[in-house]
Amino acid sequence: MRLEGVESTLAGTTVSEAVIETRQAGSIEVEVHGHRSEACRELAGAIAERVRQRAAEGRVYVLGLPTGSTPVPLYAELVRLHREEGLSFANVVTFNLDEYYGLSPENPQSYHAFMRKHLFDHVDIPREQTHIPDGTVARDQADQHCRDYEAAIRDAGGIDLMLLGIGHNGHIGFNEPGALEASRTRLVRLDEVTRHMAATAFGDHDHVPEEAITVGVATILEAREIVLMAWGSLKAKAVARAVRPPVEAAVPATYLQRHDAVKFLLNKGSATWMDPS
Ligand code: GLP
Repeated sequence: MRLEGVESTLAGTTVSEAVIETRQAGSIEVEVHGHRSEACRELAGAIAERVRQRAAEGRVYVLGLPTGSTPVPLYAELVRLHREEGLSFANVVTFNLDEYYGLSPENPQSYHAFMRKHLFDHVDIPREQTHIPDGTVARDQADQHCRDYEAAIRDAGGIDLMLLGIGHNGHIGFNEPGALEASRTRLVRLDEVTRHMAATAFGDHDHVPEEAITVGVATILEAREIVLMAWGSLKAKAVARAVRPPVEAAVPATYLQRHDAVKFLLNKGSATWMDPS
């Protein structure tokens, strides 16, 4: 990761012993850890260092945040750093990637609820510095809401570090197969693969919302730096496809190849593509 000022934590000789392998896949730097918890500890440490550095300069640090099972150990480690090592989030501004359309912030399946449960309720981030698309916005006001979301990102100075997971179909945020590189925050229809994967969380497939509001591919690519996390063999195929040409709308994560500061943080399971045997 080319985060200025945190190279000492992440690059070269002082990189944690838990790193099994680092390699370059085209423009994408890939780091494989033995276990997801080790990968998250290292990433959380790098974020903490940058947050503290910005605080000392009297500046904010702007994070783009994902949901799903993937970032849970990262958020747990950030909470631990807050509780045990005094890391303050007072100068952190966050923008979540997406929200299910039709779910209120109180709905336990909403990404609002997810973020409160895993991060926001446990750290000192001022609530007005957190942003998540509103899944309850009226349909005829959705476009305006999405434009306002983009404007809020710009007003915050842009996203410093965009954290991502990856869908089994190669989606990032809810930019499903077919999403355009120039896409911006918008209301989208969810892919059936995505709805299928979410069925357990919602009780059954029919209860999974059919639409969501997601930031766009262009919004993601404007972030200064991007770290995509993926754990476990179920993600190996999507990861393998994401790092290899061609860049194509059928696999939106391939658009990340166009960015010059992207890192994929993997564990052994999600990196099985590295060993073709
Ligand atoms: C959802 C989110 C994505 C996330 C993906 C993977 O679809 N919108 O941002 O990356 O799930 O989820 P998980 O981390 O649970 O595998």
